[in-house]
Amino acid sequence: MQVLKLGGSVLTKKHGYMELDRNNIHALASMLGNVWKSGVRDILLIHGAGSFGHPLVLKYGLGDGIRTDAQREGMAITHSTCTRLSLALVDALVENNVPAITVSPHSAGILENGRIKRFDSSIAGGLLSAGMMPVLHGDMMLDEKKGGAVCSGDQLVSYFGKNAERVILGTNVDGIMADGKLVPEITSRNLEDILSHVRGSGSADVTGGMRGKLEELLRMGRPAYIANALHPERIEKLLRGESAPCTVVK
Ligand SMILES: Nc1ncnc2c1ncn2[C@@H]1O[C@H](COP(=O)(O)OP(=O)(O)O)[C@@H](O)[C@H]1O
Ligand SMILES: [Mg+2]
Repeated sequence: MQVLKLGGSVLTKKHGYMELDRNNIHALASMLGNVWKSGVRDILLIHGAGSFGHPLVLKYGLGDGIRTDAQREGMAITHSTCTRLSLALVDALVENNVPAITVSPHSAGILENGRIKRFDSSIAGGLLSAGMMPVLHGDMMLDEKKGGAVCSGDQLVSYFGKNAERVILGTNVDGIMADGKLVPEITSRNLEDILSHVRGSGSADVTGGMRGKLEELLRMGRPAYIANALHPERIEKLLRGESAPCTVVK
């Protein structure tokens, strides 16, 4: 299995409010259609929530637990909007003959203080075995300590990435940049130096942006490729095991 994450900054207009980036969605779905047709079918797809998640989490104050009626309502709304984004992506995939099916993390697992405590992977795994593409997404999930909390796409990547042959993160930049240049490789050796160049995301990213992503990847302890999904052919090459401009984290 390989894990592909598509960032919310790619699928949505991240500075908007629940705005799809239809051009990017269709370009990526078309690329995945070609990849699928050529026989690469071992893909677990995870995507971020972008402007279908972050602005709602801020609006309803969902960052530190679900205790009030307004927060309960906010959690329900945010789960629904994240699912809607996922269905838009899945519709585009199906149009390109990829049998993609959304598996909402909310209905599959439980968090404890914002970290996945249990997750039933049998549906996602079963879809892969049955020749379909499971699609997971950043979501609001039940949390044993906080009532409910955000589970980011990046956390799902580190959870599922542990069992993956390859992890690819498609985002809206070429990879990790330092002093305006693409960093080809991050290892424990240059990690501290590189982290000093990495900020949270500029927009309303409640899950830590690129820094959060790197921290999740390092917890995973597996090689991961961060590449620009605004150039779908780069993601396609990586999915085929070929090289493309990116940052490798290992
Ligand atoms: N050193 C860095 N290299 C690359 N991106 C960085 C760096 N520091 C901060 N970022 C920000 O991280 C963003 C990508 O992370 P994020 O907003 O979480 O996107 P995604 O939609 O992939 O989850 C970039 O748009 C960029 O603004
Ligand atoms: Mg993000």
